[in-house]
Amino acid sequence: MEKFNRYLVTAALPYANGPVHIGHLAGCYLPSDIYVRYLRARKMDVKFVCGTDEHGVPITIKAMQENVSPQDIVDKYYAVIRDSFAAMGISFDIFSRTSRQIHHETAADFFKVMYDKGLFEERESEQYFDEIKQVFLADRYIIGTCPKCGNDRAYGDQCERCGSSLSPDELINPRSALSDAVPVKRKTKHWYMPLQQYEPWLKQWILEEHKEWKNNVFGQCKSWLDNGLQSRAMTRDSNWGIKVPLPDAEGKVLYVWFDAPIGYISATKELTDNWADYWCKEDTRLVHFIGKDNIVFHCIIFPAMLKGHGNFIVPDNVPANEFLNIEGEKVSTSRNWAVWVHDYIQDFPDQQDVLRYVLCSTAPETKDNDFTWKDFQDRNNNELVANLGNFVNRTMVLMHKLCGGKVPPMHAAVKDAADDAIFAMLQDAKLKISENLETYRFRDALSEVMNVAREGNRYLQEKQPWILAKTPELQQQNQQAIDNCLHVCLQLTANLAIFLNPFLPFTAQKICHMLKVVDKMLDWENAGSMKLVSVGYSLRPPELLFKKVEDEQVAAQVEKLHAGLKKSAAAAATAAAPVPEAKPAKAEIQYDDFAKLDLRAGTITHAEKVPKADKLLKLTVDLGSEQRTVVSGIAEHFAPEAIIGRQVTLVANLAPRKMRGIESQGMILMAEDNGKLVFVNPDAPVAPGSGIS
Ligand code: 2FM
Ligand code: ZN
Repeated sequence: MEKFNRYLVTAALPYANGPVHIGHLAGCYLPSDIYVRYLRARKMDVKFVCGTDEHGVPITIKAMQENVSPQDIVDKYYAVIRDSFAAMGISFDIFSRTSRQIHHETAADFFKVMYDKGLFEERESEQYFDEIKQVFLADRYIIGTCPKCGNDRAYGDQCERCGSSLSPDELINPRSALSDAVPVKRKTKHWYMPLQQYEPWLKQWILEEHKEWKNNVFGQCKSWLDNGLQSRAMTRDSNWGIKVPLPDAEGKVLYVWFDAPIGYISATKELTDNWADYWCKEDTRLVHFIGKDNIVFHCIIFPAMLKGHGNFIVPDNVPANEFLNIEGEKVSTSRNWAVWVHDYIQDFPDQQDVLRYVLCSTAPETKDNDFTWKDFQDRNNNELVANLGNFVNRTMVLMHKLCGGKVPPMHAAVKDAADDAIFAMLQDAKLKISENLETYRFRDALSEVMNVAREGNRYLQEKQPWILAKTPELQQQNQQAIDNCLHVCLQLTANLAIFLNPFLPFTAQKICHMLKVVDKMLDWENAGSMKLVSVGYSLRPPELLFKKVEDEQVAAQVEKLHAGLKKSAAAAATAAAPVPEAKPAKAEIQYDDFAKLDLRAGTITHAEKVPKADKLLKLTVDLGSEQRTVVSGIAEHFAPEAIIGRQVTLVANLAPRKMRGIESQGMILMAEDNGKLVFVNPDAPVAPGSGIS
């Protein structure tokens, strides 16, 4: 730690387009909070900054879905997110927002400095444009039919039904999510960062100088660098975001991933006049806590920006966690498969530390991990209640019963090896906990803390002061042994408060309250001391630190998860894609439009799977006078052999389109009922080729 005189710790700025769930907490907010609380206890000069990320496509999509303005969305979720974090004890020094003036100025200025240094390339490219709304369309704003699975509400960057990542050019029948218009390609100018120019420096800095980074982070960086970096556009066509500060940049904003990390700088500026000490001095340790999906932005792009700009330090570490799954399934905010933090706080008031404990002990530090309500219950009941809570409670109860509610003295005459062993154990624990925390191994650190409580229970069990108290003939001598035991247990309890404080701050406070000690006692330098509570001092009555989680509570939470999923599935069936203006159906057409369709009855005579395309079948459809080849996204619904001979309705004059190298000469009409596909065909067999009108 010596190299650094101050710390700047950042936690990823969450998008203000929805509430936070426990995966967010486990990913970066809880570990960063633990780290910062530890640094504060070590009296380090530390600032902890965060805020909401309020620009970019996710915000505008949410606004469209809710039919409100982007500003309404960010105002609403800023407050929800801020309150959830505060309730969970995430102790930011500032929780700002990227919509604030100071951020707009800081980000625009950052861009301008880079621009003036000639660090951008100006390039023209062709992008989809909505002629009705007169705007360029981000990939997410283009919807169409997925070439892989036939989902007709796939996005231009991804199909949420089959998970394929797509480019807008791959979509069949692309249309604008804003107006339903068919988008056209138009030229547009953007400013690109030639990331390849930073490659030699990035390789040296990460691959040579930061071999200590977590394996998942280092590995991802290495693979990006090994594959070679390319120029990346740092601006977008949009009216929501930070305006590009150049005269010829009407309708252009900074790319959200350019502006968001600068939010860390703006938040620090907002927090303190000394902000430059934290951002510009080499003896500051800058640490970015993030989730794994943010690695490239924090390890490659933002550092390249900082380096290019020239006035700033770069991060010393970027401890990214993997993902937390829920009950065996990936968290999905769109499917509502998530445990929302604001719900938890409502359902488990005053039990923030239980969640903090469970999320830290199962944190996805090296690989994705699973959260289950059963495990939550087990960890609470078997570890917090039965180990930690039990030790502190027994200590307090026995002290009141056998020592008159006062801290008993330590009698040198009857001090023994077991008492000394507790002292040694605390020294050892302090070292191990510190070392683990300083190397971002929060799970291991917490497990060491729980070992301290376990050792306490073992010691108490061995000494059995309640038995000593039952032999009156030895009262005088036994009282001394009882005193010593409870003296040690009380000092141990105070030590536990220090160790627990970064992880379970609410619990540490409760212990301090019972022991009538001030917050100052929680300073890390006090850990290991056996003089934390003063002899003769009268203490408060015991208070239970934790209570059992009952089976019914677990069942109710699991039920709630499934209910949320069902509710959102119904909504998603209609609103899976961003459709701004809710329309009852498609736009009205004239008879002539309809008459343009050449619909014919046909019979499937051959069907086979398309190699390497899970969703596609290649069909031969007999139209009487001719055979058509049709590629259809129905492979997940029908086995090829099961549909031979089926009569279908074919759109026979649809322009041919190549899919997976096969020319599809028409489209088969299907009806979809809650995810189930059925053929649309005449209600009695007709001759192949019969016209349908
Ligand atoms: O993934 C996200 O939620 C982003 N909003 C994180 C941004 S982190 C930082 F760069 F601001
Ligand atoms: Zn798909």
